[in-house]
Amino acid sequence: MTAPTISTEGLRELLEQGAPVTVLDVRPAAERAEWSIPGSVHADAYDALRRGDPNALADFHPANGGRVVTVCGAGKTSMLAAERLRARGLDAVSLDGGMRAWSLAWNTAEVPCPGSTARIVQLRRTGKGCLSYLIGSNGDAAVVDASLEPQTYHRVADEHGWCIGTVLETHVHADHLSRARALAVDTGARLCLPATDRVSFEYAALKDGDILRVGSTGLRVLHTPGHTPESACYLLDERALFTGDTLFLAAVGRPDLEATPEQSRNRAYVLHASLQRLVALPPKTLILSAHTSEPVAFDGQPISATLGEVQERTSLLREPEEAFVSHILTRLPPTPPNHHRIVALNEAGTLPDDPTELEAGANRCAVA
Ligand SMILES: [Fe+2]
Repeated sequence: MTAPTISTEGLRELLEQGAPVTVLDVRPAAERAEWSIPGSVHADAYDALRRGDPNALADFHPANGGRVVTVCGAGKTSMLAAERLRARGLDAVSLDGGMRAWSLAWNTAEVPCPGSTARIVQLRRTGKGCLSYLIGSNGDAAVVDASLEPQTYHRVADEHGWCIGTVLETHVHADHLSRARALAVDTGARLCLPATDRVSFEYAALKDGDILRVGSTGLRVLHTPGHTPESACYLLDERALFTGDTLFLAAVGRPDLEATPEQSRNRAYVLHASLQRLVALPPKTLILSAHTSEPVAFDGQPISATLGEVQERTSLLREPEEAFVSHILTRLPPTPPNHHRIVALNEAGTLPDDPTELEAGANRCAVA
């Protein structure tokens, strides 16, 4: 017997609609701890399912009596789980491709931005934590840090009646494959990056102080090196700051990727200066970063905070230069998996046939 499957897009739509579905994660607890589907429940049944134990999942009863979607790492053990539940008469289906395929699942949230005439939509890769943005004004739109398939941005822009005229990156990313170049090629939009000699494709180079027009609004470029040498932030109407991986909502960017220990140390000093420049902006400035470290719920709630709130939560921002440098260098998390290969592809501006294989795992660009 083979149980039916559901695609990532199918499950994404069910969760978006708030349909009565129980997502049952059958991976080992350690794998689940790394990343999970929001609202999913866990059954520690992986080994029992693999060895064909007839009692596997015997204790599991869906809370709402509705459909059950079983999930594992790649969609094989979840198939065994769905078969077992179907044998008990439950409406169970297996998530095709498992958590690896789920890496591309997404949802959106409108970001209110008082004082700006632009509208901001946050696009969240719930399966990985990447945050990207559509900024719309007068029918024109810009995309910041595209991490999803280009058609996703087309779809959301269409829904708002916007035409994507600009595609922007805050820096050369190390933990996801950038879709910026593919999106720019698709749409004919201008592709803008902070000036760098790292990439081998054509782009419009941005420098500190440049103003990019999007409809009737403007994005001001702030060069904020540290996380990477070229990292920049974009300030919309002096109200909302797209910070990439320079500043998160309770953490700062790591300075050590693709760097020697000595370069990391130098970058940490440079990052301190860049962050001091950002914290001098008005405390009401809305901070919109490129990553979150938690799976994103299907709740329509934007992931953002004011600069004042971020300062309160982030002790590194209050430290003098020497303490900042020594603390950041001693708190570095493990490096993201496959980051050398991801950086090489992002510098070349190419995408592999199956991006999810390289992109497995959580984002690790932050130091708290
Ligand atoms: Fe990054």
